Amino acid sequence: MNQNIQREVSDSRIAILTFDRPDSTANIFDELTLRELSEHLNFLESEKGLKGLIIRSAKPKIFIAGADLNGFAQAMSAEHIAVLIERGQQTFDRIARLPYPTVATIHGVALGGGFEIALACDYRIASSDSATKVGLPETNLGILPAWGGSTRLPKLIGLPNALEAILTGRQYAAKQALKLGMVDSVVHLERLPGVANRMIQESEGKKRSYKLHIANRPPVSQFIKSQVEKKTLARTRGHYPAPLKALEVVCASLNVSHEQSLANEKNYFVELALTETAQNLIGLFFLQERAKKIKPDLQPAAVMPAKTIKRGLVIGAGLMGAGIAQWLSSRGIRVLLKDVGPAPLGKGMQAIAKIYREAVRRHLFSETEARNGYDRILPFFEEIPLRDVDVVIEAAVEKLELKQAIFADLESRVSPGTLLASNTSALSIDAIASSLEHPERVVGIHFFNPVHRMQLVELVRGTKTDAASLHTALKFAKRIGKLPVLVKDSPGFLVNRILLPYMVEAVRLFAEGHRVETIDRVMLDFGMPMGPLRLIDEVGLDVSEHVAKDLEQRVKHLAPLNDLLSKMVQKGWLGRKSGMGFYKYGPGDDRKVNPQLGSFQPAEPTTVNEGDLRDRLVLLMVNEAARTLEEKVVDAPEDVDFGMIMGTGWAPFRGGPLRFADHLGLQTVLSRLNNLRDRVGSYFEPSSLLIDKATRGEGFYPQKKSAFPVQSETQTLKGEDERDAREASAGQ
Ligand code: NAI
Repeated sequence: MNQNIQREVSDSRIAILTFDRPDSTANIFDELTLRELSEHLNFLESEKGLKGLIIRSAKPKIFIAGADLNGFAQAMSAEHIAVLIERGQQTFDRIARLPYPTVATIHGVALGGGFEIALACDYRIASSDSATKVGLPETNLGILPAWGGSTRLPKLIGLPNALEAILTGRQYAAKQALKLGMVDSVVHLERLPGVANRMIQESEGKKRSYKLHIANRPPVSQFIKSQVEKKTLARTRGHYPAPLKALEVVCASLNVSHEQSLANEKNYFVELALTETAQNLIGLFFLQERAKKIKPDLQPAAVMPAKTIKRGLVIGAGLMGAGIAQWLSSRGIRVLLKDVGPAPLGKGMQAIAKIYREAVRRHLFSETEARNGYDRILPFFEEIPLRDVDVVIEAAVEKLELKQAIFADLESRVSPGTLLASNTSALSIDAIASSLEHPERVVGIHFFNPVHRMQLVELVRGTKTDAASLHTALKFAKRIGKLPVLVKDSPGFLVNRILLPYMVEAVRLFAEGHRVETIDRVMLDFGMPMGPLRLIDEVGLDVSEHVAKDLEQRVKHLAPLNDLLSKMVQKGWLGRKSGMGFYKYGPGDDRKVNPQLGSFQPAEPTTVNEGDLRDRLVLLMVNEAARTLEEKVVDAPEDVDFGMIMGTGWAPFRGGPLRFADHLGLQTVLSRLNNLRDRVGSYFEPSSLLIDKATRGEGFYPQKKSAFPVQSETQTLKGEDERDAREASAGQ
């Protein structure tokens, strides 16, 4: 019966519970594991003469990853969710009440419920390994820590740090966690058991009590609460209820009984879990799990075993090439970094060093890991043998002839099995591969900027790309920890295809006389991470213009870009990189609307209807998103929504453009698009798929049956992925 947790009692009468979920690399809390834990507690409570308890994991990289979100997904009713929460709270309370000292030895990831069980122990010792991460990420899923985490953490580390941890959902490396008091000690992995035993012995049977934190008492706590509330409202713009509810529960926990605080956790959890925001955020979590398991639709006979990728060649040491080289090297891949001469290489290596330095500062790598990563990169500009390179990522400038020449040259110099990939943002993979004897070897692997922050890659399949190359590319994406979306070779692929028309529309709105602040604020209010004009500044006006023009030529229904960007570029206004664009940039974060923009706008200000403005920007994206589905650029609505959220930060709480369209109702979307087409321009003509679905009363997704929309999809991952799907877990 006991499968997930093993128990032993040492000669010195210390009980040890080892979490070791069978046939899995992860430990998670599902109903069975909670039940097993409860049975072990029957023993731990009744056995005489025990001196202490150690909770540990047998997994190489995971302590306990959190609660099984599928479990919550199945618990559709408020009552069922409440029962699950109570069960976890009661079980962890039993650990806290054991009459002898308890220690969690944390090696690997301890998140959500995985950290909450550790919080119920008297002591926490973490391994110094970089795999060790602790945190309570629930608010990122639209819920809150409700297995005692919101109640215990503020008492342990004080209100300000607890709020920071819970409201941001941050994951802390062992050393940071030690600094904050989330763990009591950090030791080398091998020393964990010894130190835990010693801690129990030295505590001489005494339980530990929380130390007093001044910040936990009024008036300081009240002041902190009001400050954090203001900051949180500004950050979430009212779209994310979880951090605010968590703030309530955490602050209240300081003034009410333990039992009352757990009841608060439970009540707010249930309320939050049933909101559409939580459903969409948990849905996003499942979309990420889904991306890890994507398989191309290929005949198994055609699939060659993907090789282990150890050596990479990155061509171009510019913004993207440097970012890609850094990322590959940080994942243990030896990288040859090629550019045309020492100057661009020097610049690229400096950029790489900067990314590593920043990662060390943020405790993502130790100094040694960063140095080793950096040393894995060999910059070069002269010809060198390339036979033992496993993968090439080309990230030279965006010019078709140049890329064709690079690939033709490569074909004769690398081994027949080397994967050839281009990072092109918009050029056709077919066209790039056309000069090759074996165009079937070429794929697109489109990284997003900045590479070390953006998890998404678009894997582009040319018409000639063969199964083996695609398969290798998928394995490679997995190997380097990126999440792929499979796309057809088509203009702008998925993300730029949807994003560019939106950016172009923002320029048009500006030219019509709408203020920069209004356009950008409307989209911030909608939930985008930045407004479209600011985005153009970040991408660069020259680059935006180039990609928009390219797309406009290849996608006939798109409205042409006006000449505004071109005029601004002529003035030397390239956006952030030149200090001037739609905004004027000063030192640091200083940013004001460019005061010289007046000449580009009509003298008479336009009357603003913000709803209309939002519809023009958002529904254009929705319509284009529908077209990508219609043209089979991707296979499923999940691909579109996942790509847009991960590639652009598209309002995650809304679940992506197609989920949002379903929420609005396709008939509403259709009638608004028709209206915009009649009033504003023919480019708002609704796509056939949209008309079709709206007319039939359907949505892009099947009608929801469960409170957690994506759950049914993960459940269809049967067969070899069934176990992985069951283990899709995080948070709480
Ligand atoms: P960049 O201009 O910063 O860097 C390009 C580098 O390629 C330069 O260092 C240049 O010296 C080098 N180069 C030119 N010809 C070369 C050759 N024959 N052999 C080796 N190196 C050569 O450009 P960026 O922004 O890094 O873009 C590179 C590629 O990545 C382009 O295809 C671009 O469309 C794509 N991309 C760009 C993104 C962005 O946000 N900038 C995002 C995703 C893809």
